[in-house]
Amino acid sequence: MTDELTPETLDEDEQPIKQRKNGLYPGVSDELAASMKTGWADTELRDLEPIEQAPNTARRREALSRRFPGERLVIPAGNLKTRSNDTEYDFRAATEYVHLTGDQTEDSVLVLEPRENGEGHDATLYRLPRSNRENGEFWLDGMGELWVGRRNSLAEAAALLGVDCADVRELAGALREATGPVRVVRGHDAGIEAALADKVTAERDEELRVYLSEARLIKDEFEIGELQKAVDSTVRGFEDVVKVLDKAEATSERYIEGTFFLRARVEGNDVGYGSICAAGPHATTLHWVRNNGQVRSGDLLLLDAGVETNTLYTADVTRTLPINGTYTDLQRKIYDAVYEAQEAGIAAVKPGAAFRDFHDAAQRVLAEKLVEWGLVEGPVDRVLELGLQRRWTLHGTGHMLGLDVHDCAVARTETYVNGTLEAGMVLTVEPGLYFQADDLTVPEEYRGIGVRIEDDILVTEDGNRNLSAALPRRSDEVEAWMARLTRQRA
Ligand code: GLY
Ligand code: MN
Ligand code: MN
Repeated sequence: MTDELTPETLDEDEQPIKQRKNGLYPGVSDELAASMKTGWADTELRDLEPIEQAPNTARRREALSRRFPGERLVIPAGNLKTRSNDTEYDFRAATEYVHLTGDQTEDSVLVLEPRENGEGHDATLYRLPRSNRENGEFWLDGMGELWVGRRNSLAEAAALLGVDCADVRELAGALREATGPVRVVRGHDAGIEAALADKVTAERDEELRVYLSEARLIKDEFEIGELQKAVDSTVRGFEDVVKVLDKAEATSERYIEGTFFLRARVEGNDVGYGSICAAGPHATTLHWVRNNGQVRSGDLLLLDAGVETNTLYTADVTRTLPINGTYTDLQRKIYDAVYEAQEAGIAAVKPGAAFRDFHDAAQRVLAEKLVEWGLVEGPVDRVLELGLQRRWTLHGTGHMLGLDVHDCAVARTETYVNGTLEAGMVLTVEPGLYFQADDLTVPEEYRGIGVRIEDDILVTEDGNRNLSAALPRRSDEVEAWMARLTRQRA
């Protein structure tokens, strides 16, 4: 009585696009198969309003069209990645795709097709449609909506995003057949790249990626609003952490990571990068994300963390806090030096300034302090010329911020690192001093101390605005803020 309905028994053209990897297809009776086809309500959503950023993404697509006339442009969202066996990492859509669509749906691909009259492009968003219930895809396919949840129909997605939509399962074949110049953003969708393999070149594709990176240098009002939301949630996340430092002392740095993550996940999409919850000497390891160390009274906690909003804009904020609420004299001396460097850096952020200016301003202050403390021989100009301060300052003083924490990373040197600041850019200013635990060139009491202060700064028409100003920075203000929050502990 039981006919096996397995992937093998489906007709070739009815093959589900992705089988469930666990391969468990229990026997399905004809009656059950028939039952699963029918009896489902029409849930199509009608009269949907476009998402708020739809006009902005349309403007970006128009600019992209103007930059590459007559060429087919393919911008994939990316696919799920296997974590282990049949589990996948949380999906995070490719930044280029999100910026041009406002969408975040896996396996989708934006294509700009040059019009035959030679004027501009037609944009089409290829994506998975609602699951077919007739052929069993709805419940037998690994991407069936019964397993993964309801998707927007193509018509719904078109209304929400303001772009015509089509079935992505037809795209690879169509791209293989197509003629004419084409470029693809690489690194996100191996299937689409394979379909285009004999039509694209690495150099031309890189030009597209560079253009899209530079297109994000200046943020519009919507993006600035999202970045402010990301920062505001991040400020609340830092407050959450201060309130539970006693619990972190009783467990590990993981308590801090988990506490911040709770805020990120409840108010936003995720953290924008792995939180650096670095207590004691871990603060001197720039990318400390193991977060499995002890949290000890008397040490510093360097917390570098950022909430990513539901639209995928991220904050990137660091505070270096005394775990017991009060800096020691040496911790304060080092902290105040970094604060002074950050103040000098922030003051150098204004339209028309060179991007490098804020870095140079902060480095000069840090070099002056290192000379003053006798850690490196002056004069300061010699130290800066030879870069000797870098043994302890380690990294650049900041970077663009947006959909990516290190946004616009493939912009050309002349438009970014050697470029000029303009209103609408958002960047971090994050000087630091790091004395490694095994650094024999500094007095013993310095060893194992790391301090960074990082804020997110918007370049305005007449200077800058610190988006993260709500989080105290000056050492005495940090202490007062911590005292207030820890008094609120239950
Ligand atoms: N959190 C990474 C950075 O500060 O650049
Ligand atoms: Mn950071
Ligand atoms: Mn940063």
